[in-house]
Amino acid sequence: MELSEALFKRRSVRKFTAEPVSEENVLELLHAGMSGPSACNKTPWEFFVITKPEVLEKLRKAARYSKIEAPLAIVVCGNLSKALPSQLSPFWIQDCSAATENILLRAVDLELGAVWCGIHPMKTAEKNVREALSLPEKFIPLNIIYIGHPSEEPEARDQFNEKKVHYIK
Ligand SMILES: Cc1cc2nc3c(=O)[nH]c(=O)nc-3n(C[C@H](O)[C@H](O)[C@H](O)COP(=O)(O)O)c2cc1C
Repeated sequence: MELSEALFKRRSVRKFTAEPVSEENVLELLHAGMSGPSACNKTPWEFFVITKPEVLEKLRKAARYSKIEAPLAIVVCGNLSKALPSQLSPFWIQDCSAATENILLRAVDLELGAVWCGIHPMKTAEKNVREALSLPEKFIPLNIIYIGHPSEEPEARDQFNEKKVHYIK
């Protein structure tokens, strides 16, 4: 699929069939995630790939808007021990966000559906995900990406708004 098509086709998909996502596709998604840019190329990310039903159930309860039934979840975490020092450390959020968007776009390309459910900076949700995955303190869960074969197909759309563009010529 052309990138320009995938960009507009990417919509949040929240309904999936029970069909599992193949291991090949999971690897494709992870390659896409890790090919994203990161500040000073620190790659301060960790990816938890979850198919275990009991853990998926815990993730669904982790946050108010994370109650999504999907055969697969990828939790993207920042690894503070790999992040830039002191004031620059919060760049991990942008790094992990870039990786997340890459995963979402590759999912479209693979004819999968996906939705990004935010976790950080919601402290209770972070704690719930941390407990569900037994994360060490240095890992901060940014989001849960639910992925699967879609059973809904939101329309492709372009949200271009010229009022948001500021030309400096
Ligand atoms: C940081 C972030 C957090 C989000 N959290 C949730 C969430 O908790 N639950 C959910 O269903 N969707 C969540 N979304 C998806 C947005 O609701 C969705 O991207 C937005 O409504 C635009 O729709 P679209 O993705 O179909 O273009 C989140 C998206 C982002 C970028």
